[in-house]
Amino acid sequence: MATGRRKRDAGNERPVDIAESRRQGEQGAGFEIVGRQDFSDVTYLLDIDHPMMARAAKPGQFVIVIPHEHGERIPLTIADFDSRTGTVTLVVQAVGKTTQEMQRDCRVGTRLFGVTGPLGLPVEIGNAKKVVCVGGGLGVAPIFPLARAFKESGAYVIGVVGFRTRDLVFWDDRFQATCDEFIICTDDGSAGIEGRVTEGIALAMANHGDIDEVVAIGPPIMMKAVAELTRPANLKTTVSLNPIMVDGTGMCGGCRVKVGDKVLFACVDGPHFDGHQVDFDDLMNRLRRFTTEEKLATQRWSHACRRSAHEPPPSPETQV
Ligand SMILES: Cc1cc2nc3c(=O)[nH]c(=O)nc-3n(C[C@H](O)[C@H](O)[C@H](O)COP(=O)(O)OP(=O)(O)OC[C@H]3O[C@@H](n4cnc5c(N)ncnc54)[C@H](O)[C@@H]3O)c2cc1C
Ligand code: FES
Repeated sequence: MATGRRKRDAGNERPVDIAESRRQGEQGAGFEIVGRQDFSDVTYLLDIDHPMMARAAKPGQFVIVIPHEHGERIPLTIADFDSRTGTVTLVVQAVGKTTQEMQRDCRVGTRLFGVTGPLGLPVEIGNAKKVVCVGGGLGVAPIFPLARAFKESGAYVIGVVGFRTRDLVFWDDRFQATCDEFIICTDDGSAGIEGRVTEGIALAMANHGDIDEVVAIGPPIMMKAVAELTRPANLKTTVSLNPIMVDGTGMCGGCRVKVGDKVLFACVDGPHFDGHQVDFDDLMNRLRRFTTEEKLATQRWSHACRRSAHEPPPSPETQV
């Protein structure tokens, strides 16, 4: 009887022995996807078999993924890692060509062509006694390992997560089990308190006068709002920046961010910075630089998908 770990796949319940498939995959290129879960129409989780990465990863680091041989490089945060099982977890939001292509093609048993990392500096956990860990939208996944690390260091952890609506909520069970207090915020009030994560942070600040640090991950506009909320109280606020990255190793300069009077590279100097020092308007401007090209790439890709779905199978004459 096989004694290895079993893979999970919401859409494919057939269990596969991971130790066996690792042996078989030793000759194959890339990194096998051993688990997948779909949280909503746009958000999905992938567990990747990558024992060395799982041993080396620290909270707050990221990887550069190349989905297939001709794919582009995209940075994704290591949302979780487990050195016992040898897996790293990525949570992805399908926003454009590559992330939508991955949503369609990344199934249990398929392989990612490249997974480089762990990259970036880990978050400094330090000696904070009371911390608010804030995740908005997709930031909910990457804030989880930080909440866990703060908890393991002995801090009192208040988790604050924000979603548009109840249907998009995920990992609330993980946060409940890890945090001392947990506040869900939804824009429409369908789960937890009604409002943005800033409402949840304000509530935590009103109830606790002794918070040492706020750590926030989410869209730039959200992190800017968090930094403005905590600035008057001079409450240490760490944010995780998501500029456009190409190599992820400090070579291309694409991920330049303005922090105080310095220009830094988010991939090697970050991605975590003092939120009160970050120039968020510059970050948001830089993120908009390739909007036209990104739209075109997505349109071309979905047009090609529709075309191939409707194309008749090749006739015997045209087959070689
Ligand atoms: C350090 C870091 C960690 C990230 N972690 C996650 C994560 O855990 N999960 C997740 O879903 N997303 C994460 N992102 C964002 C993710 O990289 C982009 O959503 C992805 O690259 C979009 O590619 P696309 O082709 O699907 O969409 P596109 O249509 O090409 O782009 C959609 C939007 O994504 C951003 N983007 C595009 N290319 C890049 C790039 N090379 N680098 C950074 N941003 C880009 C732009 O703002 C763009 O407007 C992270 C980004 C960074 C920098
Ligand atoms: S991604 Fe190229 S320098 Fe940071």
